Amino acid sequence: MKLQKTFVAKAIMVVLGVVLMLGACSPPKSEPVKTVTIPDDVYDPAIWGIAFPLEYDYWRKTKDPKPVGQSKYKKGYDTDLVIYDKLSEYPYLALLYHGWGFGIEYNESRGHHYMIIDQLEIDPSRLKPGGVCLSCKSPYAPKLEKELGPAYYSMPYVDAHAKIPEQFQKLGAACSDCHDNKTMALKISHPALNGALKFIGKDPAQLTRQEMRSLMCAQCHVTYVIPRDKDMKPTGLFFPWQGSKEGDISMENMIKVFKSDPGKYGEWVQAVTGFKLSYIRHPEYEFFSRGGTHWNAGVSCADCHMPYIRVGANKISDHDVTSPLKADMKACTQCHAQSAQWLKDRVFAIQDRTVSEMSRAGYAAAVTAKLFEMAHKAQKEGKNLDQDLYDKAKDLYLEAFYRLNYIAAENSVGFHNPTEGMRILGDAIAMATKSEALLRQVLTKAGVEAPAYVNLELAKYLNKRGVKPLNFKPDQEFKDPYGIQDMLTPPASLGK
Ligand code: HEC
Ligand code: HEC
Ligand code: HEC
Ligand code: HEC
Repeated sequence: MKLQKTFVAKAIMVVLGVVLMLGACSPPKSEPVKTVTIPDDVYDPAIWGIAFPLEYDYWRKTKDPKPVGQSKYKKGYDTDLVIYDKLSEYPYLALLYHGWGFGIEYNESRGHHYMIIDQLEIDPSRLKPGGVCLSCKSPYAPKLEKELGPAYYSMPYVDAHAKIPEQFQKLGAACSDCHDNKTMALKISHPALNGALKFIGKDPAQLTRQEMRSLMCAQCHVTYVIPRDKDMKPTGLFFPWQGSKEGDISMENMIKVFKSDPGKYGEWVQAVTGFKLSYIRHPEYEFFSRGGTHWNAGVSCADCHMPYIRVGANKISDHDVTSPLKADMKACTQCHAQSAQWLKDRVFAIQDRTVSEMSRAGYAAAVTAKLFEMAHKAQKEGKNLDQDLYDKAKDLYLEAFYRLNYIAAENSVGFHNPTEGMRILGDAIAMATKSEALLRQVLTKAGVEAPAYVNLELAKYLNKRGVKPLNFKPDQEFKDPYGIQDMLTPPASLGK
């Protein structure tokens, strides 16, 4: 109740602010281009805001907490400034990511205002790669990349960060990330995307407006590879889109890229299995654009996350980029005649299904990882492993792991492309289960008795991470909310 009141009060204040402003200067109808030229190299959004005060006002709201309870899985952060810990939500990830920054601290995302602030606050292990971590976080990244050359990628994060002028060291995605300063047209400013477009046969100079309304986001909401030298130092940054096409950047093709040079593209060692792995981060663009209903209907990211809103006499794009669920579903109701509640229920239905399948895939992969741990221990003790079966099991395990990693890292919990999500998770479950069956054969042949129910020791992975005190509420402590552990059936090979 109290919360609602503050919200109403805030909303009134915003409306008043806008009305007052309009009364004072009455800007003309905000059609895309005004004849204002922002000078080159101006990064400060407040300067751009002099010409475009409405967009600036809404852009600044990415700092505000979003209403609690609107979204089921993307809780963001609430007015107590609680940040949600993803590893407690999906405990199998704590086991699978153990040995890597994401296994230490991994939080739900929040507004664009926080992108650098969250980096500065997160467990330092996450910033180990170096300056390259700024690439999808700072409007200055393209400039640093150009000025510092390859050294930028591997120099310590703090040193690269210190090269950003002090007053902008906490500035997240700014006007210059998405707009040309002379024409205000949408513009790609992060160079890795131009390289990736060439992989998929697109000419960066020939893009339609509707394509740009998604590609702005694809500058950052994509997965990427940080190739390493033999000392594991980063040497660059690219999107693994080789062999793919626009509208068809498949999970399978990305795995092919990882596997083409595991030495160079492997970024970390999974502690439980000892395997060197790649890692997939926020693949929103790839997942959304792989032939989902909305992509096929020509809908762009901006249609749902930056819908047109009316502010006084003006129609602007909502620059408070957030979940449509936290913005009254107003994006959806611009195209759909159904009620906001009906649409929201559709989103939840898709997400519930996705989370349930993801848990099955996750626990199946976690069980298999623990069996690899057992097999490796047996090998150390001098037992012989059947190499052929072991290799097959390992290959299936890696395929399952990347599929799970892909859906777990994608931020819509399945909504952006429900059928593709189900397809990928279905494959992940089948592959992890098959891997487990093969591995049990390996163990049996080596004379090792594997237990029917594998103890995942989740508490160990969840409770002992990093040096920073964790930022979650006690009721977010580990549980198995879907009872998945009980649902795991021992594979057929058992008991033979
Ligand atoms: C310069 C990189 C960058 C660009 C460009 C970018 N994003 Fe983001 N976005 C991020 C990062 C990083 C976060 C997570 C911030 C955090 O949690 O600190 C984020 C968070 C979000 C969120 C979660 C917000 C919330 O309230 O929880 C949404 C939704 C989102 N982005 C959508 C988009 C869309 C749509 C576009 C294109 C119009 C876009 N982003 C462009 C980097 C970017
Ligand atoms: C994450 C990318 C992104 C950022 C950051 C961003 N914009 Fe935009 N902006 C867009 C998109 C997408 C549109 C819609 C353009 C279109 O459809 O052609 C847009 C449209 C606009 C328009 C045209 C009128 C309207 O509202 O549709 C103006 C003016 C504008 N932005 C100003 C700004 C200013 C000022 C800032 C910084 C305070 C800013 N933008 C930051 C993506 C961005
Ligand atoms: C048809 C509408 C629609 C389109 C198009 C769309 N999204 Fe989403 N997006 C959603 C919904 C619904 C969610 C789930 C939000 C929730 O659960 O709160 C979501 C979630 C997200 C999130 C996580 C939000 C959060 O609060 O943490 C990000 C980031 C995001 N989308 C980015 C994108 C990007 C980038 C694109 C284009 C490649 C895109 N979306 C296209 C509807 C859409
Ligand atoms: C720019 C227009 C547009 C926006 C915005 C939009 N949709 Fe859609 N949506 C469509 C179209 C077109 C279809 C396909 C309809 C068809 O083929 O019958 C569709 C299909 C759907 C479907 C059924 C297909 C499926 O994938 O399951 C659902 C559910 C849906 N939309 C929900 C939403 C929600 C929720 C939002 C807001 C987050 C949203 N849509 C935003 C245009 C839009």
